Amino acid sequence: MYRSECSLFFVLLKLILIISAERVNLPDDDLYYFDPNKYVSSNNQYVQEVLRKYNQDPHYTNNNPLSAINQDLLNKLASTPDPRLIDSSNYPNQRNSRPRTNERVDVLNVGQGRHQNQNYGPPYNIDQNRNQYDVYPSASRGDPPRQYFENDPQYSLRDDELFKLLAQLDIRASQQCNINVRAQWDFETNVNDANQIRALEQQLAYSEFQRGVHNIVDKIDKWDIRDPALWRQLRYLSVVGPSVLPQDQLNRYNRLINDMLAIYNTATVCDLEDPLKCGLRLEDLNVIMARSRDWDELQHVWIEWHRRTGQKIKELFVQLVDLSNYAAQLNNFTDTSEYWMFPFEIYDFRNEMERAWDQIKPLYEQLHAYIRRKLRDLYGPEKISREAPLPAHILGNMWGQSWENILDITIPYPGKNFLDVTPEMLKQRYTPEAMYRIAEEFFVSMNMSAMPPDFWSKSIFDEIPGRPVICQPSAWDFCNGNDYRIKMCTHITMKDFITVHHEMAHIQYFLAYKRLPKVFRDGANPGFHEAISEAISLAVSNPKHMQTLGLVLTSIDDLPHNINFLFHLAMDKLTFLPFSLALDIWRWDIFSGYTRKERYNCHWWDLRERLSGVKPPVLRSEIDFDPGSKYHVPANLPYIGYYMGTILEFQIFRALCKAAGQYVENDSRKPLHKCDIYRSKEAGAILTRLMETGSSLPWQETLKLGIGESKLDASAVREYFRPLEEWLRNENLRTGEFVGWVYDGDYCKYSIETANLQVSGGYYNDATVFSISLSLIISSCLSTIFIHLKLSRS
Ligand SMILES: *[C@@H]1O[C@H](CO)[C@@H](O)[C@H](O)[C@H]1NC(C)=O
Ligand SMILES: *[C@@H]1O[C@H](CO)[C@@H](O)[C@H](O)[C@H]1NC(C)=O
Ligand SMILES: *[C@@H]1O[C@H](CO)[C@@H](O)[C@H](O)[C@H]1NC(C)=O
Ligand SMILES: [Zn+2]
Repeated sequence: MYRSECSLFFVLLKLILIISAERVNLPDDDLYYFDPNKYVSSNNQYVQEVLRKYNQDPHYTNNNPLSAINQDLLNKLASTPDPRLIDSSNYPNQRNSRPRTNERVDVLNVGQGRHQNQNYGPPYNIDQNRNQYDVYPSASRGDPPRQYFENDPQYSLRDDELFKLLAQLDIRASQQCNINVRAQWDFETNVNDANQIRALEQQLAYSEFQRGVHNIVDKIDKWDIRDPALWRQLRYLSVVGPSVLPQDQLNRYNRLINDMLAIYNTATVCDLEDPLKCGLRLEDLNVIMARSRDWDELQHVWIEWHRRTGQKIKELFVQLVDLSNYAAQLNNFTDTSEYWMFPFEIYDFRNEMERAWDQIKPLYEQLHAYIRRKLRDLYGPEKISREAPLPAHILGNMWGQSWENILDITIPYPGKNFLDVTPEMLKQRYTPEAMYRIAEEFFVSMNMSAMPPDFWSKSIFDEIPGRPVICQPSAWDFCNGNDYRIKMCTHITMKDFITVHHEMAHIQYFLAYKRLPKVFRDGANPGFHEAISEAISLAVSNPKHMQTLGLVLTSIDDLPHNINFLFHLAMDKLTFLPFSLALDIWRWDIFSGYTRKERYNCHWWDLRERLSGVKPPVLRSEIDFDPGSKYHVPANLPYIGYYMGTILEFQIFRALCKAAGQYVENDSRKPLHKCDIYRSKEAGAILTRLMETGSSLPWQETLKLGIGESKLDASAVREYFRPLEEWLRNENLRTGEFVGWVYDGDYCKYSIETANLQVSGGYYNDATVFSISLSLIISSCLSTIFIHLKLSRS
């Protein structure tokens, strides 16, 4: 496998460069769409070295794409001083000629469904909203009053001139995006040295371009803009993240992330039974976590993985927090948590997210109680007590974020098979192409788009003999309005059949917003793209749809099948929610300074216990740094979008089903989980409305336009799982389970020594220094790639 030969380099390419911020390169690989939009740092010194070496390639001609922009406009901008620096005495009359800020916001929001606590306009000085919207909050933070100069033609572009400028930038952006995406595609579909270098170069060139755009946009006085669409466009173009850091600080920032990822990606563990069998990597450990039912082995693997990753990462993370906050402040946010919440445009974001979890928790507690009984049956009451939280290491997953790997010991009706139409697909001689044709017909039946010709001629549905391909399923937008592709090594299985629909839903999204300016061709918020695709997956994966397609011949609509079906889904989606919520609440608390370094790990376990009812297998301390053992912490990637997307998925699905007449609340003949939106033009119209505005509106508005709801509402999750919840409640009553959990002892101490506790195995005072330098890894990786030497990882 290419990736395992040099996964660090892969990660550098894929993630330091943030080509895609989704769950790439993880064991629980998420299905993703390729996102070239992310602002990319080109200041990584290692990458620069690689580039210097390989830059002699004559194909790499870096003619500045911005040179094609109208020079008069640029010159005018270039002569515009920073509005904040203008001497106010030159503009004595401006103050009064200006509308009051509050008025303006109101005007902008007329007819836009403005809600309490949600303010969609430009970020003028409204204290209540400041934290969420103030891209330029300095003006409201005690600075001298702003002075305006809008009537001085020397100093500002008129709106029409701005539109012209943005239109030109937009054309360039699409072209540059296209060049970049083509290079990434070429690499992922034909992994070799030359393509990798080319992909890297183009990614950097694109990032340089974006930086250039940012520099132009930075000069525009956004305070003078009255048109909300224009304002929003400029705001999007001007949020730059860590790249605002001074060069030396930015290098340090990149270096910290590189170093943490190097630790994460190279960590290995030795076998419990056979201490000489070392070098077990995360892929191997995941298999053990999923399959082993041996308490000691699982505990060993869990502890060792956390020791080899989190513990080593902590000091670096502490430094990253400061630097990341500094970068956020340079972007005029108070700290990184505010910066991360910014794309969600919700006042009181954290409470909104917690409220959604409160809606779901009664259902989760039933599942939790039921699972605890099953685990108690297996491991014994001395290990799993009746009222305690669940130990994190026996849930089938290193992070306890999905429990579907322990279905074999927990499934409600073990005798009954899951719905799996794979044999029938094989019998009917399905081919990969047929799967895509059927998926296309699904969307067309709902009056949505057919796939464009390029899709069929250029997509990759199958492995190509003799060509190394990165097989992770992904959907690609080539930014030119006609080239859209899927890359997936499709197998004839039910799972892949659903994935094909999922990926094609991403393409539907691309098609729906293709006429918007480049900067708005994105999901309505960071959880939206996946929410739509997963709602489609829900729709096609249910037995009724499979029956309609002729893949289910005998009726399987009995209680056991239904409960097993819902249970399986709950063991993945429901269990993921409290984990994902905890991960970002934990980081918000750290970035905001609420949680100090002395409480990092214990705060994590407080949250895990409170939200998930999960505890560590052994006592932890502040020597440990358990969240650091999850990829997104060292990579410093936000996670809350997955949480929100998972809830939105059900909310959107419910609306589609109501529109299709397939779901009627409280009507047991039409439960939500049996809804099939196939052939429903009404559902198709809703999807189109949800997608066609891209990110050009606050997502609440988009949601309102699409489904008439304007808040995140987790009641759809409850409704979807209602039959399961009833079943679980009865089952827990029957066996007299305690529902909920009670803190049952110490999970985490500042220091194990002061806790005066004996810790077996010496896990807490291991002195092994893990000091492999990044440059060594990089050069080893390069030799793997360029000289084809296999890297030894002993
Ligand atoms: C943040 O505010 C400062 C001070 O007003 C300003 O100079 C700077 O350009 C702003 N930063 C960004 C990224 O807009
Ligand atoms: C199908 O979609 C088109 C374009 O979005 C729309 O104009 C038309 O009304 C839709 N047809 C139906 C039956 O909904
Ligand atoms: C459905 O039942 C729930 C609980 O019994 C109730 O609160 C709700 O109002 C009902 N909805 C409708 C549309 O009847
Ligand atoms: Zn996806």
